[in-house]
Amino acid sequence: MRCHTCARPANVEIRRSRIAFCAGCYPHWFRARVQERIDHDRMFRRDERVLVAVSGGKDSLALWHALTRLGYRADGVYIRLGIGGYSRRSQEKCERFAEWHGLMLHQVDLEGSEGFVVPDLREARSGKPCAACGTVKRYHFNRVAAELGYDVVATGHNLDDEAATLFGNLVHWNIDYLGRQGPVLESTHPGLVRKVKPLYRLSERETAAYALIERIDYILEECPMAKGAKSLAYKAMLNSLEEQQPGAKYGFLVGFLKQGRAALPGTGFEPAAELRACARCGQPTTAEVCAYCRMADRGRRRRERARPPAGVDPT
Ligand code: AMP
Ligand code: FES
Ligand code: ZN
Repeated sequence: MRCHTCARPANVEIRRSRIAFCAGCYPHWFRARVQERIDHDRMFRRDERVLVAVSGGKDSLALWHALTRLGYRADGVYIRLGIGGYSRRSQEKCERFAEWHGLMLHQVDLEGSEGFVVPDLREARSGKPCAACGTVKRYHFNRVAAELGYDVVATGHNLDDEAATLFGNLVHWNIDYLGRQGPVLESTHPGLVRKVKPLYRLSERETAAYALIERIDYILEECPMAKGAKSLAYKAMLNSLEEQQPGAKYGFLVGFLKQGRAALPGTGFEPAAELRACARCGQPTTAEVCAYCRMADRGRRRRERARPPAGVDPT
């Protein structure tokens, strides 16, 4: 195949659109798609300050790279989740990226500032902390952005992530989640910062190709806490469908956002009137004490119990 832009031999094929690009033209196409989503979905304006949540993986680093190249004022935030060597290695990737490109990276150290780590949040039944970890991340993205005056938080969720989430929500008929799933979550309260996913129409393969061509050094390993075997199973199913029907994944997600979602209740945060300040941390919540603060208490208690008594050598 030939490059759609310059007609030289192509390296990256976009099967669903039946076009391909050479390594020189592909990054321009990729960034144009990101820009298109930012503008079309009204994610943010040029004068707004963007906080990119970076995990050290290809998607979020590719997003930070693309936004910077597109001329946006984008800083990063990395949450140190305390998942052993995996967290240390991903932190290193984020720090190196920020240093190399001369960008500002904020960090939250769960262990140091909150007194617990994500493995302390394992559920008794599944043995997995993934759902709690999601709450922890969202809480700190919002808190850091609100405290430091950012207008919007951008995450690296891609087409595969979003299609798998949609599939899972359909399998379990999570109507509430379905109503809220989308690339833009508007702020409905001064303490809630807008959340956006500029890569939601670009597949994992397309982001990986961008990272490779732009020589972005990212962490290849997946989270060892086995981030939901379920979401991996959904991704595998959608990939096999995609093999037979190029474009099926895209049609599934975009069709839902264009047609299915409108039929469902709830399309954003809870209305502002129902929110109040958490009695402990001051973040917006519907309860007296927010879900994060309650969860953090549990994490600290677990950590305390696991600690060997004073004077006992753990070795
Ligand atoms: P995940 O929930 O691991 O699929 O990650 C989804 C998105 O959340 C990533 O693309 C990042 O934007 C963000 N993210 C994940 N882990 C972290 C982290 N430790 N610190 C900051 N952002 C993160
Ligand atoms: Fe949160 Fe794996 S990244 S549990
Ligand atoms: Zn709280």
